[in-house]
Amino acid sequence: MKAIVITTPGGPEVLQLQDVEDPKLGDDDVLIRVHATALNRADTFQRQGSYPPPNGASPYLGVECSGTIQSLGINVSRWKIGDQVCALLPGGGYAEKVAVPAGQVLPVPSGISLRDAASFPEVACTVWSTIFMISRLSQGETLLIHGGSSGIGTFAIQIAKYRGVRVFVTAGSEEKLDFCKSIGADVAINYKTHDFVAKVKEETGGQGVDVILDCMGASYYQRNLDCLNFDGRLFIIGIQGGVTAEVDLRPLVAKRLTVQGASLRNRSVENKAAIISEVEKNVWPAIAEGKVKPLVYKTFPLSEAAEAHRLMESSQHIGKILLVP
Ligand SMILES: NC(=O)c1ccc[n+]([C@@H]2O[C@H](COP(=O)([O-])OP(=O)(O)OC[C@H]3O[C@@H](n4cnc5c(N)ncnc54)[C@H](OP(=O)(O)O)[C@@H]3O)[C@@H](O)[C@H]2O)c1
Repeated sequence: MKAIVITTPGGPEVLQLQDVEDPKLGDDDVLIRVHATALNRADTFQRQGSYPPPNGASPYLGVECSGTIQSLGINVSRWKIGDQVCALLPGGGYAEKVAVPAGQVLPVPSGISLRDAASFPEVACTVWSTIFMISRLSQGETLLIHGGSSGIGTFAIQIAKYRGVRVFVTAGSEEKLDFCKSIGADVAINYKTHDFVAKVKEETGGQGVDVILDCMGASYYQRNLDCLNFDGRLFIIGIQGGVTAEVDLRPLVAKRLTVQGASLRNRSVENKAAIISEVEKNVWPAIAEGKVKPLVYKTFPLSEAAEAHRLMESSQHIGKILLVP
């Protein structure tokens, strides 16, 4: 098959389409003929050599895909050959074929094209498993999402609104803020021109938000603690703003805050299957109702993966970027 190979760690130019061996099918796996895969910010870190794939995972990029099931491991009973599906992958999506544990596979949501279905597994599983399953974000609460126009952010806005949450976002341009509002954000803050802590306090009568979904890490740690409400929950899923911070812990103690972090990719197969099952139960109906839409900014042929990485690293995109073999 053809796959995008990282020829050596480095810039987007190191990504090359090459002939490689087909993936091996385990007894609990399905083999998917890939129709589309989606970029994630972590792919750019893996390409640079700073985010290696977990043990046993495909060496190729790509943590989600959509496609058609081509063959089945002997223990697989839920799926059959020819089923149109999407899947959360440990890696290997930037290819014509990928093998994945059957428990990480989902049906294409009703009303969604096979191509656009590739935009959902990673964002749905990340957002659902963090702020909903762990932080227990509930109807009537407030949520601040950093990077509101990202793949993660645009999904989080939509599913939080669907669940009756008041949504605040940060983003770095007026165009991105307007887009976030157009898909449901109640309060959109330009982090380049405004202090998000002051804006959150002003909009919440001084209280702060109940939950924060954070992709910045160290650079926002103190300000995140400062703008949480009593019993607030900070969920850190990204460290784009660094890994080391010195913080004043008084807000943590005084406001009974919880700080949590998680990475989806290094969870066990069983743990991922449990998340997939919750996502199918809780998120897929919202997509089928048209309340959560696939937001695809641009689609590239797989052979142009380098161009797609350049676009992601330019941060011009809003929502997801897809690759089609
Ligand atoms: N832990 C996990 O399991 C997991 C899973 C998936 C994703 N993630 C993380 O989630 C984040 C989003 O991923 P993605 O794939 O959706 O990437 P993406 O579309 O490339 O988004 C990156 C976002 O970071 C925002 N950003 C950069 N500097 C910022 C700042 N100072 N303040 C607020 N926002 C800022 C950008 O906003 P502007 O363009 O407006 O600057 C952009 O929206 C990444 O950090 C990624 O590593 C974690």
